[in-house]
Amino acid sequence: MQELFWNDEYKTGIEIVDHQHRALMEMYNQLLAQLNEEGDFRASLDQALQGLFDYVQTHFDTEEQLMKASHYDDFEKHREEHEHLTSQVFALYQKKGEGIDYLGVMSFIFNWLQHHILKTDKKFGTYYLQNVRLQDQGLRNS
Ligand SMILES: [Fe+2]
Repeated sequence: MQELFWNDEYKTGIEIVDHQHRALMEMYNQLLAQLNEEGDFRASLDQALQGLFDYVQTHFDTEEQLMKASHYDDFEKHREEHEHLTSQVFALYQKKGEGIDYLGVMSFIFNWLQHHILKTDKKFGTYYLQNVRLQDQGLRNS
């Protein structure tokens, strides 16, 4: 399992979204480092994972609010993708009682952070920036 390093390729251009994506990557890397430590860190791992899930939820809410506010036409599709990701990751997490497959969860999050950001979020970023720019021009011209 590899660490995730932020680079400009991940940039959506929306400041708050980029900030949250960076924070998510850092949380992911910290969790990964914890997993690689020796010993029984079960309790702190569960806590870190819970923290990550909570932050993901906050992040999805932010994105969805921005999409709504900018009348994004792909909003429903994007929101469905968020829902799908949440339920998949939750299903993995719920196996906690049977001994959670941390590596499975991590590889899922790794793929999500890469693919969802690079494709779906960047697409919204392009739309959002154009939209905001158009509104700005409208204001200046009026
Ligand atoms: Fe998203």
